[in-house]
Amino acid sequence: MKSALVTGSSGDIGRSVCRKLAADGWSLYLHYHSNKKVVDDLIYEFTILYPEQDFFPLQVNLEEDYAIERLKKQIFSLNAVIFAHGTTEYGLLKDLTSEKMDTLWKMHVKIPILITQAFQNKLHRDRNGRVVFISSVYGEMGSGNEVFYSTVKGAQLAFVRAYSKEVASWGITVNAISPGAIDTHMNEHYSDNDLEVLKQEIPMRRLGKASEVSFWVSQLLQPESSYMTGQSLTISGGWLK
Ligand SMILES: NC(=O)c1ccc[n+]([C@@H]2O[C@H](COP(=O)([O-])OP(=O)(O)OC[C@H]3O[C@@H](n4cnc5c(N)ncnc54)[C@H](OP(=O)(O)O)[C@@H]3O)[C@@H](O)[C@H]2O)c1
Repeated sequence: MKSALVTGSSGDIGRSVCRKLAADGWSLYLHYHSNKKVVDDLIYEFTILYPEQDFFPLQVNLEEDYAIERLKKQIFSLNAVIFAHGTTEYGLLKDLTSEKMDTLWKMHVKIPILITQAFQNKLHRDRNGRVVFISSVYGEMGSGNEVFYSTVKGAQLAFVRAYSKEVASWGITVNAISPGAIDTHMNEHYSDNDLEVLKQEIPMRRLGKASEVSFWVSQLLQPESSYMTGQSLTISGGWLK
C-alpha cells in the first residue's frame, strides 16, 4: 500500500489533501504543528472510512532542524511527500526582522529541502516517487507587503525545477501547485471590504476552495502523471496570470 507524508495536515489545504488522498487509497502520515485535534479527528474519520489503510499523526515544528531526525524516526515506507504547511508575514520589507526572515526561510525552503533529501532513497524505491510543494502565485509574480513570503515561495519553485532534473531518471517527479487566493484560515484576516476588492481582481470573482487545490495534488500522484516533472500548476481563477 502506498504511503504519503502530508505536512500541514491540520491546515485547510492540508486537510483537504488528506481527505482526497485517503479516498484515493493512500496510507498517510499526517503532520501537524499545534493543532492536534484536527489531525486526531481526521484519523478517527479515516479509520472508519478506510479500515485497510494506515494513518499516523506526526507532531513537528518545521522551523527547527531537529524536525528531520524526528520524521526519520517515525516514517518507514514513503512514496510521496506533499508540503502543505506554512505561514506568511504581512508588512513592508523595511519592518521585517532578520529572525522572521530566518523563520520563513526555514519553514518554506530549508526544512522541506532537508526532508526531501532525507527521504530521497525511500521515494526512489518504487521508481514512482512524488514530491509536491504547495507554493503560491506570489512565488511566480511577487507581492508587495509580502515580499519575503513571495521570495521563499519563489525559492520553492526554483528548487522544484532544479531537483526534478536531478532525480528524473529515478522515476521521482517533483512539481508545485501555485494557488491564488484560497478560502482558508490564512485569509481570515481580510475585512469584508478588502475581500470584495480582492474578488474583483480575480477573473472568476471568487476565492478558490481547498478542494480545488487538493484535486490537482491527487492528479500529480497518479501513476499516469509520471512524465510530468519540474512544473508548477497555477490554480488561481485566472488571477495574476
Ligand atoms: N490560503 C491561500 O490563499 C494560499 C495561497 C497560496 C499558497 N498557500 C500556501 O498553502 C499552504 C497551506 O496554507 P493554508 O491556507 O492551508 O493555511 P492554514 O490553514 O493556516 O494552515 C497552515 C498549516 O501550516 C502549519 N504550520 C504553521 N506553522 C508551522 C510550523 N512552525 N511548523 C510546522 N507546521 C506549521 C499549521 O499547523 P498547525 O495548525 O498544527 O499549527 C497548518 O497545518 C501554505 O504553504 C501557504 O503558503 C495558501
